[in-house]
Amino acid sequence: MKFSNSMLFPEKNAPNHIKRERSLNMGRLVPFILTSLFIVSVFTFFLLYSPNPLLVIPKQSSDFVQQKQQEVPDQTNITTKPQKEKVQKCDLFKGHWVPALNGSFYTNSSCATIPDSKNCFKNGRKDIDFLNWKWKPEKCELPRFDSKTFLYFVRGKKMAFIGDSVARNHMESLLCLLSQEETPKDVYKDSEDRFRKWYFHSYDFTLIILWSKFLLAGEERITNGTGSSIFDLQLDKVDDSWAKDLPDFDYAIISDGHWFFRVMYLHEGNKLVGCVYCHEPNVTDLNIDFPFRIAFRTAFKYINSCRNCKKMVTLFRTFAPAHFDNGAWNTGGYCNRTAPVSEGEVDFGRFDWQLRNAQIEEFEKAKEEGKRTGHKFELVDVTRAMLMRPDGHPGSHWGNQWMKGYNDCTHWCMPGPVDIWNELMMEVMIRDSGFRSGL
Ligand SMILES: *[C@@H]1O[C@H](CO)[C@@H](O)[C@H](O)[C@H]1NC(C)=O
Ligand SMILES: *[C@@H]1O[C@H](CO)[C@@H](O)[C@H](O)[C@H]1NC(C)=O
Ligand SMILES: *[C@@H]1O[C@H](CO)[C@@H](O)[C@H](O)[C@H]1NC(C)=O
Ligand SMILES: *[C@@H]1O[C@H](CO)[C@@H](O)[C@H](O)[C@H]1NC(C)=O
Ligand SMILES: *[C@@H]1O[C@H](CO)[C@@H](O)[C@H](O)[C@H]1NC(C)=O
Ligand SMILES: *[C@@H]1O[C@H](CO)[C@@H](O)[C@H](O)[C@H]1NC(C)=O
Repeated sequence: MKFSNSMLFPEKNAPNHIKRERSLNMGRLVPFILTSLFIVSVFTFFLLYSPNPLLVIPKQSSDFVQQKQQEVPDQTNITTKPQKEKVQKCDLFKGHWVPALNGSFYTNSSCATIPDSKNCFKNGRKDIDFLNWKWKPEKCELPRFDSKTFLYFVRGKKMAFIGDSVARNHMESLLCLLSQEETPKDVYKDSEDRFRKWYFHSYDFTLIILWSKFLLAGEERITNGTGSSIFDLQLDKVDDSWAKDLPDFDYAIISDGHWFFRVMYLHEGNKLVGCVYCHEPNVTDLNIDFPFRIAFRTAFKYINSCRNCKKMVTLFRTFAPAHFDNGAWNTGGYCNRTAPVSEGEVDFGRFDWQLRNAQIEEFEKAKEEGKRTGHKFELVDVTRAMLMRPDGHPGSHWGNQWMKGYNDCTHWCMPGPVDIWNELMMEVMIRDSGFRSGL
């Protein structure tokens, strides 16, 4: 796969952006629902611009890896086969967190690719109990992540994560999990580190991240030569930066959502159909969930109409909530809990949950349509599980020098509960393939 210049979003230097975003957010947008989620727009900039040097140190000789690879089929049989009937039927996404005392699958020394902003222990996080939990679906066991099985399963394949900085967080977790088995080669990085590609040689497996703020075509308004943080969004057109490469992929993991909480003008064709937060007398003011829902509708429609991507499985990861206690991101909100909360403590009236429900509706329609068009859609619904994990965010431990006093309660520590997204994803992929039924 080739990445071209058109995939890049040229932007100005970071500190100016951040100042602008801050003042914009605080001044004009604050009174609205879910102010807390605005933080993401700010954090996104940090993440995008923070240096994220990848140090890849080969750990094993290829002989060793080859040898292991041959053992994989047997092991896969043994670990996965007995659960066949039970697992096939149970809802993976309804359940609770239970103690699992052997901690995380990797540490900040066994995974060299943890970005600083998510390396919570490096940034001073002291409590470790939040690592000692696993997700337990109500009616079955979720098999623990197994990097050998995963790599064996995806051998010869290309997998692309598509979305915002939380999508990247997800991909980074997978990268760490898999690098316990084989150190990947860093094969592509664009100048702003938004598009990236790794290669697992022994398994001929390619892992890709494609950056897209909205999934849709959207451009920031430029006033007087600088970005305004106001976006024009084309509701009927997907962002070409991911769409054009789709036929290359065997798996596309779609997720998005944290950029929608800002001033946006919404277009269909050449027509302005409304806005979010614009407060103009002759423009219909719409709620965030409108463009949010349409973004997924349009993205799924595009996939369903893609003639050359029928081999691809679309895995859709639902919205991951932020957790700011006692304030919003800019009014001292923080997230310093050290354990999960129970389902009973979660407020399912939250706007995050409504967003997730809108996503599910669009997903179900797309999946149904996919049966007709020959495209496969599978769900990785992490929202419920993550609503119970206010303890999984970096909080003040995100290592940022520019914004001391602000907390990142949107992204997720690595290692941490974000790793179970891949546990769920692996199980969904295996179920989808019928692998367990003896394929
Ligand atoms: C914990 O131990 C179980 C049983 O040996 C194993 O399946 C699982 O992968 C381990 N989990 C971690 C996070 O190491
Ligand atoms: C890993 O975390 C420890 C604190 O637990 C920290 O001292 C160390 O610098 C970190 N190492 C890396 C490579 O990030
Ligand atoms: C753009 O610059 C002009 C001239 O300096 C100024 O009058 C105007 O207010 C600026 N517009 C914005 C949106 O900043
Ligand atoms: C809204 O009305 C103003 C004043 O009549 C006009 O300048 C502007 O172009 C209008 N905007 C739209 C989107 O119609
Ligand atoms: C979390 O932070 C708040 C505000 O700084 C503090 O009052 C509280 O004691 C902290 N809780 C824990 C568990 O550290
Ligand atoms: C693994 O599965 C294959 C195909 O179902 C079967 O032929 C083989 O005997 C199994 N191996 C073990 C160790 O169960």
